[in-house]
Amino acid sequence: MGGSSRGEFSSSFGFIMAAAGSAIGLGNIWGFPTQTAQNGGAAFVLLYLILAFVVGYPILLAEFTIGRHSQSNPVGAYQSIKGGKRFAPVGFLGITTVGFILSFYSIIAGTMMAYFLNPILKLVGLHQAAAWVISQGVSSNILFASLFFFITVLIVAAGVKNGIEKWSTRLMPTLLLILILLTIYVLTLDGAMEGLKVYLLPDFTKVFHTQLFTSALGQAFFSLSLGVGSMLVLASYTSKKENLVRLGRLVTLSDVGIAFLAGLLIIPAMYAASASGAEIFDEAGNLISGPNLIFQVLPALFDTMGPIGIGLAIIFFFLMVIAALTSTISMLEVPVSYAVDNRGMDRTKASILIGGIFWIVSMVIALNFDLLFDFVVATTTEFIQPLLGLFICVFVGWVMNRNTLIEEIKQGNPDVENSFFMKIWPLFIRYVSPILILIILAQAFL
Ligand code: PFF
Repeated sequence: MGGSSRGEFSSSFGFIMAAAGSAIGLGNIWGFPTQTAQNGGAAFVLLYLILAFVVGYPILLAEFTIGRHSQSNPVGAYQSIKGGKRFAPVGFLGITTVGFILSFYSIIAGTMMAYFLNPILKLVGLHQAAAWVISQGVSSNILFASLFFFITVLIVAAGVKNGIEKWSTRLMPTLLLILILLTIYVLTLDGAMEGLKVYLLPDFTKVFHTQLFTSALGQAFFSLSLGVGSMLVLASYTSKKENLVRLGRLVTLSDVGIAFLAGLLIIPAMYAASASGAEIFDEAGNLISGPNLIFQVLPALFDTMGPIGIGLAIIFFFLMVIAALTSTISMLEVPVSYAVDNRGMDRTKASILIGGIFWIVSMVIALNFDLLFDFVVATTTEFIQPLLGLFICVFVGWVMNRNTLIEEIKQGNPDVENSFFMKIWPLFIRYVSPILILIILAQAFL
């Protein structure tokens, strides 16, 4: 098949791990708890869960289907499918947006790396260096974000099997285990139960806050890597034997599950910290949040655990670095696959060139962090990703030939045609998901 010259996953497990690896990352463990704290707790959690399943999952499957059918990148995919030429600019917007996401993401991923090094430097007695790495000043941000870019470029240059698959199939299960252990520990601490209530019992007066909808939708798109073409490209490397419906379900459940678990860890940990004297509310009485939240809460938590805490901190932040890497790989892969497929560029050259361009963007953000960081995050994840998702719904639901679509989904899943799923998915992709996106985007602007 055409995939052989482009590279292909050697196993089903490899694809699941790469897609789950793309989805699971900072969005789950840094983004989700931060957003939950910022938006008042359980109401946000509830809305996020609904939007992830009602809007996210149908679009994920749409991306999987276009990707595997076209065996191409977002631009090439639209160009090759009947009726899709007009949508090529949507592919370009995705490619550019994912580069901007990579640019801000690497800064936070770099901070994870710094927090991984911090306890190691302390152990070997380099206390000054240990303090510097987590200072989150301009110079440390630049150093670690650059390091992160460098590693991402190296892996993407190595290609699908040697790069992406090898890394994704390792270590993800370990992350799950450690999150569960930490959560169990936190829930035994004083004050944690109060946090659990805030996390799980929605205050329905808050559900109708407009920002809540925009944030929850953005979080669902960001966390599932939707709209920008990452999932489309990963699916383009997978075989026709795979059951896309099942894979989509697995990826959505594991992504949402890890985010939920991370919230279950962080929000109660904040209240436990509060019970032992830490300040967790701002002047207006809201929970503190912002990009630094988990870097305040987690190290404080590890500190309460004595020597075990040092080991756990090292392992935890190491796994965060890996989780972030499996996501950044899937980001850089989007523009690189375009350069390779459509422009005939050499993979290594494309990785270095495109990685270099977005590294510069990342440096501009790092140098103007207060001015640019939140703005770039909100614009890319809360507006452009859902907008791109809307176009995918229009394309798959209204433009793409229905038989072509069904034939593609049937490969690897021959009985799907008569299943309940196939009765409702088209309704979601044509009406429910795009209308919800439209309403939420519109109310954000009005
Ligand atoms: N889904 C990733 C996370 O939750 O960390 C972030 C992400 C990856 C966004 C790939 C977009 C993307 F294309």
